[in-house]
Amino acid sequence: MTLITLLLYAFSLGLLSYAQPEPLQNYNSSDLLSTCNKISAAVSSASQVFFPPAPQYTLDIRHSTASIIEESACSVEPGSAEDLSVILCILGSTRTPFAVKGGGRTTNPGFSSTTGVQIAMTRFNETKVNSDSGTVDVGAGLNWDPVYQTLAAIGLTVAGGRIPGVGVAGTTLGGGYGLLTSQYGLTLDTVTGYELVLPNGTVVNVTSEDEDLWFGMRGGFNNFGIVTKFTFKTYPQGNVWGGARFYAENQLDAIKEALLKFQQQNDTKAEASVSLSYTSGKFLCTVFYFYDGPTPSGVYDDFLAINSTGGNVSTNSFYDYFLSVGPQPPGAFESVAFADAQGASVTQYSPAVFDTIVDQINLWGARLSALDNTTALEFACEPFDKGLFSHGSASAYPPDRSQAIFPTSLTVDWTDATLNDTMAFALRNISNAIRDAAVADGQDVSHAALYPNYAIYGTPLEDIYGGNVKRLRKIRAAIDPEDVMGLTGGWKF
Ligand SMILES: Cc1cc2nc3c(=O)[nH]c(=O)nc-3n(C[C@H](O)[C@H](O)[C@H](O)COP(=O)(O)OP(=O)(O)OC[C@H]3O[C@@H](n4cnc5c(N)ncnc54)[C@H](O)[C@@H]3O)c2cc1C
Ligand SMILES: *[C@@H]1O[C@H](CO)[C@@H](O)[C@H](O)[C@H]1NC(C)=O
Ligand SMILES: *[C@@H]1O[C@H](CO)[C@@H](O)[C@H](O)[C@H]1NC(C)=O
Ligand SMILES: *[C@@H]1O[C@H](CO)[C@@H](O)[C@H](O)[C@H]1NC(C)=O
Ligand SMILES: *[C@@H]1O[C@H](CO)[C@@H](O)[C@H](O)[C@H]1NC(C)=O
Ligand SMILES: *[C@@H]1O[C@H](CO)[C@@H](O)[C@H](O)[C@H]1NC(C)=O
Ligand SMILES: *[C@@H]1O[C@H](CO)[C@@H](O)[C@H](O)[C@H]1NC(C)=O
Ligand SMILES: *[C@@H]1O[C@H](CO)[C@@H](O)[C@H](O)[C@H]1NC(C)=O
Ligand SMILES: *[C@@H]1O[C@H](CO)[C@@H](O)[C@H](O)[C@H]1NC(C)=O
Ligand SMILES: *[C@@H]1O[C@H](CO)[C@@H](O)[C@H](O)[C@H]1NC(C)=O
Ligand SMILES: *[C@@H]1O[C@H](CO)[C@@H](O)[C@H](O)[C@H]1NC(C)=O
Repeated sequence: MTLITLLLYAFSLGLLSYAQPEPLQNYNSSDLLSTCNKISAAVSSASQVFFPPAPQYTLDIRHSTASIIEESACSVEPGSAEDLSVILCILGSTRTPFAVKGGGRTTNPGFSSTTGVQIAMTRFNETKVNSDSGTVDVGAGLNWDPVYQTLAAIGLTVAGGRIPGVGVAGTTLGGGYGLLTSQYGLTLDTVTGYELVLPNGTVVNVTSEDEDLWFGMRGGFNNFGIVTKFTFKTYPQGNVWGGARFYAENQLDAIKEALLKFQQQNDTKAEASVSLSYTSGKFLCTVFYFYDGPTPSGVYDDFLAINSTGGNVSTNSFYDYFLSVGPQPPGAFESVAFADAQGASVTQYSPAVFDTIVDQINLWGARLSALDNTTALEFACEPFDKGLFSHGSASAYPPDRSQAIFPTSLTVDWTDATLNDTMAFALRNISNAIRDAAVADGQDVSHAALYPNYAIYGTPLEDIYGGNVKRLRKIRAAIDPEDVMGLTGGWKF
């Protein structure tokens, strides 16, 4: 074999990825300014470019984690898919680094922030119900809050995120675990179409007929272009039961038993999330209950028999429930100095896994709080129905739908700027410890995918997309031969 045939062979096996054009290496502030001005001159009156210190600029670059905010040269609020197409063509031809922001909730640096051109999707804010098809069109700039609110007024909902203030775009493009996951699947399994601006500026509607793009878009974030609109299936929604209750550490054995039993039940209307946190030297357990009906079946009896230290459960509209479990006052844009997230994938919160989670929160909670007493460490055990992945077809994420995997969110926030590497180390170490405990317990999770919306920066693509990486790279190379989307951050195929 000659070297060339060997290289071609390796390429065909996906062992080598296609050459990635570099972003403009020596771009400087005047290059960036000239790109901003070019965009400003080219777009229609529906769109606008802002420069510091305009208030809109400050809003456009804002993220809930202050440390990942970057001072971009300008911000752009596109007002139509056509304008976004023009913008993407200018960014591509000038090879200008840029970022796309939906709800701005990522904690990973550079995923939706940049020193180049910040695109803020806020003007894509429609919620349009299509009664005939049982779907709703949702603009890519919205958080879940207004979507649920609009739909609640007509007795409908979508299978979106569970906390107020989080973006529809990132949640949906990466997966989407929520209150209705056990009934309807991941948020991405309830999408029926995307309006997408491709890297070359062509605006397309992506549906299940586009085999490759349909596969890639479901889990692939901004690898294939920028989404302007999602179309979701809608579901009838009546009143729901639930709320949050708090428990002291001496109730943990009872909570563990209740959680174990809860995982054996098959009522897909029932959700529960067990949160364990360590803040200011204090351990706290909070259980978030949600039942999709005005009164729960008996599935929570064991939980409800445990003495709580506070909190409430009651019957509410879906929208009021959603607001009640979020930050108060409702709609507040949470703001923290530094934050990291990570996942820990398990097939069950078995006694050994639960005990490891409790040990890890106490161990690292005490350690990290000693370094920075503002540290807030929180883990959420999120059991779902075993059939949660049966509601959709093959997609970028999850790479393996044959067994149920519970994503487990691990989050930490703090204020001491010198601790970023320590915190990242801690979350990776905790995730590994939980995985090792699950493997030792007989769970088949040594290669289980991490949820891309929880995984910490630096996670190898294979740990998230598993065996799909090769196919995703091929699709990406075909859709984006000029590597325009390589000018923006995120999980890159
Ligand atoms: C408080 C909190 C609660 C959460 N709750 C849940 C939950 O219940 N369920 C769950 O599954 N996850 C949850 N998450 C994780 C959440 O799904 C991710 O953080 C998600 O990426 C946030 O989306 P966003 O639009 O707000 O983020 P952004 O930071 O705006 O975007 C995230 C990524 O998506 C890309 N992107 C954004 N818009 C577009 C677009 N229009 N086209 C192409 N790419 C785009 C960005 O470039 C970036 O790489 C939660 C996170 C937080 C902080
Ligand atoms: C910025 O870079 C361009 C080339 O990309 C160069 O022509 C220009 O002089 C530089 N400007 C400054 C202020 O350095
Ligand atoms: C959408 O944007 C328009 C124009 O800025 C504004 O009037 C409207 O209130 C917004 N709607 C939502 C749901 O944010
Ligand atoms: C996408 O679909 C919508 C609604 O069906 C239609 O109005 C629009 O023209 C389509 N866009 C493209 C680019 O095909
Ligand atoms: C739930 O379903 C599984 C598998 O079908 C079954 O083994 C189990 O007994 C069921 N659990 C309950 C509480 O009905
Ligand atoms: C709950 O608390 C009450 C009174 O404080 C006590 O009598 C009861 O035994 C406790 N129950 C459990 C299950 O701990
Ligand atoms: C609701 O929870 C709060 C906070 O724990 C508590 O103070 C209040 O008494 C509870 N209300 C009811 C009706 O249980
Ligand atoms: C936290 O640490 C700061 C600085 O070291 C100190 O001033 C403050 O009193 C501490 N707070 C608590 C609650 O321990
Ligand atoms: C961590 O902090 C150092 C020094 O403050 C900084 O150089 C580095 O970029 C930070 N890393 C991340 C991932 O934010
Ligand atoms: C966690 O980090 C410690 C070092 O502090 C190391 O000894 C241990 O092996 C790590 N555990 C895992 C599971 O990675
Ligand atoms: C843009 O990319 C799409 C997808 O690869 C392709 O079908 C289309 O022909 C391209 N359009 C132009 C104008 O190059």
